[in-house]
This record gives sequence, C-alpha cells and structure tokens, in this order.
Amino acid sequence: MLVLGIETSCDETGVALYESRAGLLSHTLYSQIDIHADYGGVVPELASRDHVRKTLPLIAEALAAAGVNRDQIEGIAYTSGPGLVGALLVGAAIGRGLAWALGVPAVPVHHMEGHLLAPMLEDDCPEFPFIALLVSGGHTQLVEVSGVGRYRLLGESLDDAAGEAFDKTAKMLGLPYPGGPELARIAAQGDPGRFHFPRPMTNRPGLDFSFSGLKTFALNTMHKELPDHHTLDEQQVMQTKADIARAFEDAVVDTLAIKCRRAVRETGCKRLVLAGGVSANRQLREKIQQTLKKEGGRAYYPRPEFCTDNGAMIAYAGWQRLKAGQRESLRFNAQPRWQLSDLSAL
Ligand code: KG4
Ligand code: ZN
Repeated sequence: MLVLGIETSCDETGVALYESRAGLLSHTLYSQIDIHADYGGVVPELASRDHVRKTLPLIAEALAAAGVNRDQIEGIAYTSGPGLVGALLVGAAIGRGLAWALGVPAVPVHHMEGHLLAPMLEDDCPEFPFIALLVSGGHTQLVEVSGVGRYRLLGESLDDAAGEAFDKTAKMLGLPYPGGPELARIAAQGDPGRFHFPRPMTNRPGLDFSFSGLKTFALNTMHKELPDHHTLDEQQVMQTKADIARAFEDAVVDTLAIKCRRAVRETGCKRLVLAGGVSANRQLREKIQQTLKKEGGRAYYPRPEFCTDNGAMIAYAGWQRLKAGQRESLRFNAQPRWQLSDLSAL
C-alpha cells in the first residue's frame, strides 16, 4: 500500500510517501522560519497561508522524487491535531479533497502519535512495548506504549513544554526564533560549572514535569549577572549568556533523564523512545542513551530530521492505521486539542 502523508500542524509543511514493502520512498519539507523570524515566534495566520501555498507543490515534488504518479497513491494520511487550527485545516482539506478525487481512503493522524512512531522509520527500530519520552514545542509526556494506539500516559508537563521553555529562555537571552536549537548552539560554548539551576519536581515522587520555573530562574540569573548598567564588554556578555544557556540546558536534560530512569524502574520496561523536536538536542540524546545503558536497557531515537516536524512520521502512522483497515467518512475536522489516550487501539 502506498500512502501519502501530509503534515501542516505548525510552522513546517511536510510531505512524504511511504510504501508497505519499500518503506519511505521520499519526503519533502518546507520550514517557515524566514516567515516568522521577524516576529520572534509563529504567527498562526501567516502559517496557514503559507501551508496553502506550499502543500500542493511539495506533494508534486515528493511524487517526482519517488518516481510515482498520483494515481498510484492508495491512501492519504494528514495531521488533524493537536496544533494550530487554521494550519491543521489546510492539510486536512487538501488530504481529504485529494483522497476523494483519487477515490482512496484518508485517515486523520494524531501529531504526537506521528512523533512517537518516528523511530520506526529507522532500520534499527524498537519492538513493543516501550516507554516514549515525547518532547516537543507543545508537549512533554512520558507514555507507556504497548502497541500502535495503545498508549498509557505516565506523566506530563504541568505548565510549559520542554521545547516551549527552550524557546522562551532563548528569546529572553536575545536569541532569534526558533530558539531551541539556537540556545543549544550557544550552550556548547558555556561553562557547565558557573551556574547551577534546579531540577524541578525530581525530589518528589511521580512522573510529571514543570519547566516554567527554570525560565524564571534563567531570567533572574540574567538580571543579576547582566543588570541594565553593567560594565562587561561584548565578549563577557556573550560568555555569560552561553553559561546561562548551558546551565538551563543541563537542568532540562538532567530532569528529563531522571524522570526517564524513574519510568523505566517503575514499569520494568527497558526500551525507551525519545521523540519530538527537542529530541534533536545532542546533549539530551547522549544523556538518555547513557541513562538507559546504566539501567541495562536501550534508547531509540529518530534521525534528527525526523525529530522535528515532518511528513514521513505522518505517512508512517497513517499507513499503520490504513493497513489495519481504519476508514473515516468524508467529514473531516481539525482538533487543536487532542489526547493521545483518546485514540483507538489497533
Ligand atoms: O516537534 P516540533 O518540531 O514541533 C512541535 O510539535 O512542537 O518541536 C519543536 C520544538 C521547538 O520548541 C524547538 O525549539 C525545539 O523543538 N527544538 C530544540 C532543538 N531542536 C528543536 N530544542 C532544543 N535543542 C534542539 N536542538
Ligand atoms: Zn511536532
């Protein structure tokens, strides 16, 4: 079965073709960074308008790259939530419309299910069951995964998601959007011994997270070290920012690793999948791998380009659902808020 996947939930348009036997045939991605950079964050209306412009040309590109024509498409998967409602509606309308025109089935895909199944696109992929740490711009969740659609939420962020905390802290440090990767870039030059940030909610039981306090901690450190009338030169200011970025990154990475270790010990499951945009973070990938090794287990993660939003993970998740016979009526919807636990098990 050849499935076309369409991702338009936020600021990236992603398209991919996945085939049962051959696997991923092609994938194309357009990032809207340049569009939102002037505003320091995603402007939903501009995001929707750009998805309208880019989705069809990207589909044509993905078909050409795979050397197939559109009549060979046997099913369509589109992200229908969670995300920005206008952006979601573009992918949903195009996906549904194309499916109707081609006379093939279409399925709505949960964006976070896409992320958590993304490691399945790699040759060396985990078997079920596994624990998934989902860390994106909108979500931080620990999920016990016993099969496709069989998800038990173990813990989640009570306030900011990890990616959101990265982005907000980066903005405070004066770094350009998208903040997460920029903060990680300057943190690499930071001195890990200069500041120590707390590891929130690690000294009490449970698997929930809270990251908004870290952002405030970073802000207070910044005000103390770089007051309005400081006498530091440019190099010293850059170094201080890098040191704050490093302390922040270390705190987030450590906190996530502590909770992963706890989840592994509590469930007895020694396979852990790391997915979502923040899983592209090198420090986090290394730390989680070490943590799992120490527990006698293993961590799995997608290649960096499939950590952040992409069409391949949506094509794959949709293919799983379509091959299991899931069919939807011609009615379609976008769900800006949607719980993983509401999905049907396959
Ligand atoms: O999964 P994703 O592409 O979109 C959402 O579903 O939200 O995740 C985007 C998030 C952003 O907050 C971005 O700053 C963060 O992932 N991110 C990173 C890195 N790359 C992306 N955070 C830290 N380090 C990175 N290298
Ligand atoms: Zn995402």
